[in-house]
Amino acid sequence: MGKEKRIKVIMDCDPGHDDAIALLLASRADNIQILGVTAVQGNSGVEYTARNARRILDYAGATDIQVYKGCPRPMMRDQYRLTGIAIHGEDGLGGPYIPEPVTPIKEEHAVNFIINTLRASREKVTLVPTGPLTNIAAAFILAPDIKEKIERIIIMGGAVRMEGNINSSNEFNFFLDPEAAKIVLNSGCRIYINTLDVTMKAEFKREDVERLRAQGDKLSVITAELMDFFGKGHEDLFNFFTIPVHDAVCVGVLIDEKLVEYDFVWGDISIKDELTAGELVADIWHLTDKQPNCYISRKIDTQKFINMICDHMKKPYVSKYI
Ligand code: RIB
Ligand code: CA
Repeated sequence: MGKEKRIKVIMDCDPGHDDAIALLLASRADNIQILGVTAVQGNSGVEYTARNARRILDYAGATDIQVYKGCPRPMMRDQYRLTGIAIHGEDGLGGPYIPEPVTPIKEEHAVNFIINTLRASREKVTLVPTGPLTNIAAAFILAPDIKEKIERIIIMGGAVRMEGNINSSNEFNFFLDPEAAKIVLNSGCRIYINTLDVTMKAEFKREDVERLRAQGDKLSVITAELMDFFGKGHEDLFNFFTIPVHDAVCVGVLIDEKLVEYDFVWGDISIKDELTAGELVADIWHLTDKQPNCYISRKIDTQKFINMICDHMKKPYVSKYI
């Protein structure tokens, strides 16, 4: 695909097994050019999430995609949830052996990288945040002018028509930093939110994992092994086995727009009420006069998603920076 046709992307993440799979998928997508990867505290501390992003990209041969370390804590609340450790392990990427990074993490702070890259880009850039939204919100506060350089923001977070994974109303990413989520949702940017409603259906069954493992190549095998650990973590924490590859859905919709169906509705994040802080509230029945401000996911083609991941993991890494 020609340079001009590729979607320019900054991935902001907290690897985390599903973030790692999202990075692998994006690195193999012909139509995506990753301008950089920024790490945030979430599934583990930011030292670990940055190191994990670097590890998985080096493992995938994507040593020319740079990683930047971001915010070490949420905007206002220091509610570092241990659920991240329970599912993703002490260092955020438990399970398979993935060597230490060979490429250095960049000195520039992630928030400054986001601001400087957007300001310098001739084309609009798509932001793909798959962890707490602290880095993105900080960038908007520091440099509101960058919003005009954003094509859209494709977020993993929230739950609308189903229970959360922190409690009945809260999902992990928005729960960890409610104020950041509120700042981003009210930014005026074009926002797509992939909620648990579809990401819990972006699920690999055991037979799908064996399909990946049987492909035998380096990325397919490591993705299968990451899924093994992720599924066990879910079973240990939630007492049911599932492998919902939440974050990779945000990349999947860039590869195939038809992967997920959305509703254009009004949505916002609860922050004043301690009981529900972080909850995504949406006017899904259009009963208020509030103007729609975001696209919230409703349906996903799960088999298309599974095939997409299996097909992409077999592909070699082709640098898009030359
Ligand atoms: O609730 C799921 C989200 O929380 C995913 O992004 C997962 O990686 C964790 O960050
Ligand atoms: Ca994540």
